Amino acid sequence: MVIKTAEFVKSSSRWQDCPEPIFPEYAFIGRSNVGKSSLINAMLNFKDLAKTSQTPGKTQLINHFIINEKWYLTDLPGYGYARVSKSMRRDFEKINTNYMLNRKNLANLFVLIDSRHTPQLIDVEFIEWCGENGIPFSIVFTKTDKLKPNTVIANIEHYKTELLKTWEDLPEIYVTSAEKKIGGDEILKFISKTNQFFVENKIVFE
Ligand code: GTP
Ligand code: MG
Repeated sequence: MVIKTAEFVKSSSRWQDCPEPIFPEYAFIGRSNVGKSSLINAMLNFKDLAKTSQTPGKTQLINHFIINEKWYLTDLPGYGYARVSKSMRRDFEKINTNYMLNRKNLANLFVLIDSRHTPQLIDVEFIEWCGENGIPFSIVFTKTDKLKPNTVIANIEHYKTELLKTWEDLPEIYVTSAEKKIGGDEILKFISKTNQFFVENKIVFE
């Protein structure tokens, strides 16, 4: 997909305040600092569209971008950020949960996982929650440039084995590096195909 335009639309603290759900929407979620905003920028080839930071917890609102005037891309607040109070963490979770359960035009959620770590309970539980609630999702491994290729493969295999303990089938998996601009094209291809499906099947968003 050629990215002709990518524009920030608005930041919202509640799903009710998000832009009108008139386009298919693709959201990026994952632990704080996993690389959501960086991957969005790398994938779209825009340097500072989504704000990135070395300090976890940078994205605290639901950020909407409109791409090619045809689909929404959403940067969600990171979950599991340890250095905020429990009640604040619960507030973030509520923002995300309500958004995911209520956003009618949500076509797919990209769940980002840091490729360097063994499966973390918080991510595994989140993925289970998506399944239980019928949220369509894919898994995206991030920061693969920080590892040797063999370690990336081993870690992902380990992850798949872990998921297959509770899942019959695995979701789509993407292997990415924002730093090296790897994997973004595959994600865009999926988005393009999904958008095409909506057009061909006359599924309208209004
Ligand atoms: P929050 O908004 O706080 O939830 O974080 P986020 O998930 O949006 O992470 P962000 O994109 O801000 O990146 C966090 C840190 O990881 C930054 O210092 C990035 O430069 C770094 N980072 C992100 N992606 C990559 C990557 O692919 N490779 C490397 N080496 N570093 C990355
Ligand atoms: Mg961010």
